[in-house]
Amino acid sequence: MILDKGPWNKYIDETEESHRKIYGTDMFDLAKQYGTPLFVLFEDIIVNNYEKYRHALEKEYKDHLICYAVKANTSYCVLNLLSKLGSGADVASEYELQLALNAGIPVEKIRVNGNCKNESYLEECIKKGILINVDPEEELTIINAIAFELGIAAKINIRFAGFPVKHITSRAITTSSDWSKFGIDIKRANSVFRKVLELDMLIPNGLMVHLGSQITDISTYYTVLEILIDLSRDAQRIGFDINEIDLGGGLGIPYFEPEHWNAIKKKIKNTRKENYTWADEFIGYEYNAESDDMEWIGEELSSAYAPDTFIQKLFTEKYSANKTFKEKLEEIGSPRFVIEPGRSIIGNAGVTIAKIGHVSNTPRGENIVHVDAGVNSHTFGTAVPEQLHRT
Ligand SMILES: Cc1ncc(COP(=O)(O)O)c(C=O)c1O
Repeated sequence: MILDKGPWNKYIDETEESHRKIYGTDMFDLAKQYGTPLFVLFEDIIVNNYEKYRHALEKEYKDHLICYAVKANTSYCVLNLLSKLGSGADVASEYELQLALNAGIPVEKIRVNGNCKNESYLEECIKKGILINVDPEEELTIINAIAFELGIAAKINIRFAGFPVKHITSRAITTSSDWSKFGIDIKRANSVFRKVLELDMLIPNGLMVHLGSQITDISTYYTVLEILIDLSRDAQRIGFDINEIDLGGGLGIPYFEPEHWNAIKKKIKNTRKENYTWADEFIGYEYNAESDDMEWIGEELSSAYAPDTFIQKLFTEKYSANKTFKEKLEEIGSPRFVIEPGRSIIGNAGVTIAKIGHVSNTPRGENIVHVDAGVNSHTFGTAVPEQLHRT
């Protein structure tokens, strides 16, 4: 959207089409009123997304906890809104933990992630009794030592990776495969369970995985769940309690209608050129010898699921041995089901309005549109509501 006078003068477009309405609000008028870059959030959409998760879970599986993934948008107003709706939080740093606590999210509803948590982060969690998802394995002895010093036992889940999943989304945001930097190798599971039981200051609580982000194929969840349930049985045999299964986040959202997205993919396939995303990451088709077919590599930008239909399908579809996920959970003692959605709560609830300053080329020759916004425009950090414009 182009506004204002200046070097970008020639791009000014005050036509009817430039007055684009999103959820009924005129974006051009908002930008004129508040200036750019402007990040607009739609409260009703956030509430609606959260409530879809909550209602579906109430129906399908009573013992559940929704932990909004704070990294998806760290604004105080978002966290405080979700806290009032009853949400917990997935935090990935000491800073995010602080934001969640400031926004009023209770400690028992916080899950702590991160593959390199520093000592003060771990200390804070142990002192407050916050559940830590252990990752990597080396963290076990570190947490145990800090807990020993403090004289307070630490409650932990084990975060796993190494699942047989491939090309489930873009490589950069796949976090459960055998090359993931997050999570402990599933092949190490039994020795990790034993190690936890040997360490006096650790209280085993459950298992965790985060598949990746923008996952649109539900069969991927089933592949991982099957293994998690088997690992839970192994854990219980050894004496490691399974009070919860945390499935992380990852549900994809539709950026395009299916027909539009399929047309884009078809065009990419037909050009037979290599295509790259803005981050210079390959996106397109690659030959798969196993299936003797071309396979899509990258994020799928169309999704058939909303939070409620996803939960409903996840719990009610018979996916192996003619059993549903709910039945499998019941077989292992009905542990709490935790989910950590980020994108599917906030992704369709915000829009960035920027002003085009210049149009030029990269040294390699691609077109660049220069705008007065960066990714830092998407969060307000620790800002409190009265410092924010509400519309
Ligand atoms: C541990 C963990 N949980 C949840 C999420 C949220 O994922 P999404 O925004 O795709 O739902 C992430 C995202 O990276 C994550 O790392």
